[in-house]
Amino acid sequence: MTILVTGGAGFIGANFVLDWVAHSDEAVINLDKLTYAGNLENLAGLDGNAQHIFVRGDIADGALIERLLAEHQPRAVLNFAAESHVDRSIHGPEDFIQTNIVGTFRLLESVRAYWKGLGSAAQQAFRFLHVSTDEVYGSLAKDDPAFTEEHQYEPNSPYSASKAASDHLVRAYHHTYGLPVLTTNCSNNYGPYHFPEKLIPLMIVNALAGKALPIYGDGQQVRDWLYVKDHCSAIRRVLEAGTVGEVYNVGGWNEKPNLEIVHTVCALLDELRPRADGKAYQEQITYVADRPGHDRRYAIDARKLERDLGWKPAQTFETGIRKTVQWYLENQAWVSNIQSGAYLEWVEKNYAERVQ
Ligand code: NAD
Ligand code: DAU
Repeated sequence: MTILVTGGAGFIGANFVLDWVAHSDEAVINLDKLTYAGNLENLAGLDGNAQHIFVRGDIADGALIERLLAEHQPRAVLNFAAESHVDRSIHGPEDFIQTNIVGTFRLLESVRAYWKGLGSAAQQAFRFLHVSTDEVYGSLAKDDPAFTEEHQYEPNSPYSASKAASDHLVRAYHHTYGLPVLTTNCSNNYGPYHFPEKLIPLMIVNALAGKALPIYGDGQQVRDWLYVKDHCSAIRRVLEAGTVGEVYNVGGWNEKPNLEIVHTVCALLDELRPRADGKAYQEQITYVADRPGHDRRYAIDARKLERDLGWKPAQTFETGIRKTVQWYLENQAWVSNIQSGAYLEWVEKNYAERVQ
């Protein structure tokens, strides 16, 4: 038996592939375009492991996907591949439309053709699992109830709009063609291999380098945080037992304002790697111009996944964030290796425009 994973060299995809190999004997074909966010070093632990087959390619390349499906006959396709950074989608939405919408469409077309050609037992057992985000639901006011699976779609950034479009395509391929799909909408992940342009790894890396810790706006935007390995276990569970055509929200029950997250990271660094001058890392915090259209609050109601499939996160925020800070302290070479010229150019551009 084999599964095909797309985007498996990125943050969540790589954690998923590593976990998959640790939990199962099933082979995993890993298709990834290796954009700036894809990094084969994330998968270095699988070097020489025949259970993992890496293929560099685009989910929009129908001929490649058709060849991979015909050759490996996977029983499931899990779609992690995406452009995933909201700030990048504001500076340049085109890649988001291309990968998240057109790419998902082309992938669905190839998978549909493959699935139609399977025998009836294999057709019934087949799954297309689409990995999506809570951002498709839009922004909540302070006292609004958390997002359930029935919440209306109100995406506010080019990123979330492109993910919303991909979710709708996945839904339509089930309703129109009967493709056995599953969709997960998850909150903010954090943990090992998180690309250091997202909030938590950026704060750790900048703090250690003695740089500013840039807080957008007032820092009171609220996100729900989930340790990435818990997201991986949720996806495995949905793949195993989810009802075809259903959507499952995944979250950590950890709603926190950004400023509190940054204070927690600073406190852990004060404890684990104190500054040479004895000062607190919090002194590096600076306030910068807000993200345009910044969503104020996300909160996930993950009760359906718990009730129907018995899934709960294993980590609390306190245990997960400590593991994460420790991982970055122990893997500083991983960070330096991805700080390429292209990455530095992006950092320059994003923050130059935020000078207040
Ligand atoms: P990431 O940006 O770290 O990784 C994305 C991966 O997809 C990279 O390896 C990249 O090379 C690959 N990729 C990009 N375009 C591709 C294409 N056209 N064809 C093949 N591969 C391509 O993203 P992530 O944070 O790991 O997110 C993975 C998925 O989970 C995304 O679909 C994202 O929307 C979703 N998600 C992310 C979070 C989060 O907090 N990071 C939360 C919920 C959902
Ligand atoms: O909610 C799930 C989403 O979480 C995923 O779908 C996205 O792929 C993922 O990138 C993440 O989106 P966010 O925009 O919430 O993550 P980010 O790390 O970019 O920002 C988290 C919060 O921190 C957000 O409110 C913006 C703020 N922020 C971010 C950066 C990079 C800052 O205040 N300063 C910063 O320098």
